Amino acid sequence: MKKLLSIGAILSICSSISFAQNIPTFKIDLDNPSGEISSNMWGIFFEDINLGADGGIYAELVKNRSFEFSNPLMGWKTLGENVPEGTLVIQNNGKRKGNARSLLINKPTDFLLGLQNEGFRGMGIKEGLQYEFSLLFKCSKPGLTLHVELLDDTDKVCGSSKISLTETAAWKNISVRFRSAAESKKGKLNIWIQGIGSAEVDMLSLFPEDTWRGRSKGLRKDMVQILADMKPGFLRFPGGCIVEGRDLANRFQWKKTVGPIEERELIINRWNTEFNHRLTPDYFQTFGLGFYEYFLMSEDIGAEPLPILNCGMACQFNTGEVVPLDELDTYIQDALDLIEFANGDVHTKWGKLRAEMGHPEKFNLKMLGIGNENWGPQYIERLAAFQVVLKAKHPEIAIIASSGTGPDGERFDYLDKKLREMKIDVIDEHYYRPPSWFLSSAARYDDYDRNGSKIFAGEYASHTTRPNGPNKNSWDAALSEAAFLTGLERNGDVVTMASYAPLFGHVDGWQWTPDLIWVDNLNVYGTPSYHVQKLYSTNKGTAIIPIKWNDNNVVGQDSLYASTVYDEVSKELIIKFVNHNNKTVNGTFQLDSNKQINGNATKITLSSNDMAAYNSIADPLKIKPQESAVKYSGAIIKESFLPYSFTVIKIPIK
Ligand code: AHR
Repeated sequence: MKKLLSIGAILSICSSISFAQNIPTFKIDLDNPSGEISSNMWGIFFEDINLGADGGIYAELVKNRSFEFSNPLMGWKTLGENVPEGTLVIQNNGKRKGNARSLLINKPTDFLLGLQNEGFRGMGIKEGLQYEFSLLFKCSKPGLTLHVELLDDTDKVCGSSKISLTETAAWKNISVRFRSAAESKKGKLNIWIQGIGSAEVDMLSLFPEDTWRGRSKGLRKDMVQILADMKPGFLRFPGGCIVEGRDLANRFQWKKTVGPIEERELIINRWNTEFNHRLTPDYFQTFGLGFYEYFLMSEDIGAEPLPILNCGMACQFNTGEVVPLDELDTYIQDALDLIEFANGDVHTKWGKLRAEMGHPEKFNLKMLGIGNENWGPQYIERLAAFQVVLKAKHPEIAIIASSGTGPDGERFDYLDKKLREMKIDVIDEHYYRPPSWFLSSAARYDDYDRNGSKIFAGEYASHTTRPNGPNKNSWDAALSEAAFLTGLERNGDVVTMASYAPLFGHVDGWQWTPDLIWVDNLNVYGTPSYHVQKLYSTNKGTAIIPIKWNDNNVVGQDSLYASTVYDEVSKELIIKFVNHNNKTVNGTFQLDSNKQINGNATKITLSSNDMAAYNSIADPLKIKPQESAVKYSGAIIKESFLPYSFTVIKIPIK
């Protein structure tokens, strides 16, 4: 089934240190497509890792807004001197759904008192932009006024406003808007508590107004935009290991992430304590970005939603807890209810909730993942129980199942065999491997069974220095991915979905590298791997077109890799070509077809002579796509390819 090291790959590794061979003609058989490219072939893997959601795409600027972190005042500092004991008290009211704690303020006399929130590694603040400060409060003794101030990097006030806490026995929401006069990457929020009185406060929150689509308390616009720019075919959420949890109590439970935000029960983020060298004690999941918002984001960016649910097992790298088989019903019910939440009529329980949250229309869910990186017979047993019920009640939903943590070995072989016997719709394969693996695996899927389960290349990234050292998103890594992806594309009839992982990394709050996209509190940039993914995704085509060199697929001979698709909408032939040599290669492409080239052909190139080069906040476009014209004569295209380059050639066809 798998090709470990093709002859082409061996030649590839050798020839990258020698001179490139004389390149004969590549023949493109346009009139004989070998299969279709799935419409959702290239997608996005989203997980709240590296401050991807809280502190990242979820635009909330206040950390620990509801005092629910294990340390209730983490992220907060009391302002003022000699603040009397009993002035600020954490109150726990177990009757409040999902959000028991609040902060009780007792201020019988007037003295200097305030709270400061440090944000997530500071707060990103933009000059001239409006901010909305809001809170929930109850007030028995009116007289308190909150004076909110935004501070810039130098602690200078750059925006402020006031809110009075009037008497109310029930929880009340109140908000105020103000502008910032300065930009700051590491701003802070002061809340001065002025006057005399007593009140309970909760959900102290600050959002910028420039969220994605201007939604109140929504998502960071630049971070969603860079995803939308990829024109992704699907959005997988919410992970990753976060689905499994370190133990079952810590697993992701979608029902706790929908409904009113203040009722969504926060849990510790499993990446908080995962890596001793990157401990992140302030990492929690508030679920402001919950399943409703994930579905909405999928819709917004034109991606098919792909939720992954816990299968009754906690992460096997941690506790490996499993729920007894006779207690799996609640987990299976969660899956059924999720389908109802996404696709159910507004009169059903969960469809009604979706409508109440603002989306009466169905989300049109078509696929569901059961388990992430789970393995062993304990997984197969649980998956089988899900499969029986889901296929009986929802045959229209494709089931995606895990083939474990890696692309080979006993674990993989066991699962691959079992999943195929079970006729699972789609098998999720993961590979975090060195560049050499990606180069030598370009032919991996050439011999896969064409009639069995489809493949989801669900998590991959080329790791240059794993397990030691900081994995930079180097050009070396990205180019090896580009080469490997020619193999996915050529086998698009079998590999129907693919996504790089993880997606986001915050420069001040990451746990895992490399990542596709990096951010700080104000900026976002795509790595070379991002540009590779985007070039595939925005040039995915509709049909697989054979491209041969001496009657063979181009899978590493002389360090060259190629795949070709035709796009029946844009009427373009699209060639992806990787030159993994240290010198320019001149290639000839011969179009075997009754059709003709007609119009302006172009090429987009990513290249660097420096394999260690990477993009950064300071130099976000060091490696970037460059566009130029392509010449042709009749059905012949002659092109030269820069050393260490990935090129996409687009040829209009009549
Ligand atoms: O992408 C990071 C992690 O890698 C995912 O959470 C997990 O599925 C895999 O091990």
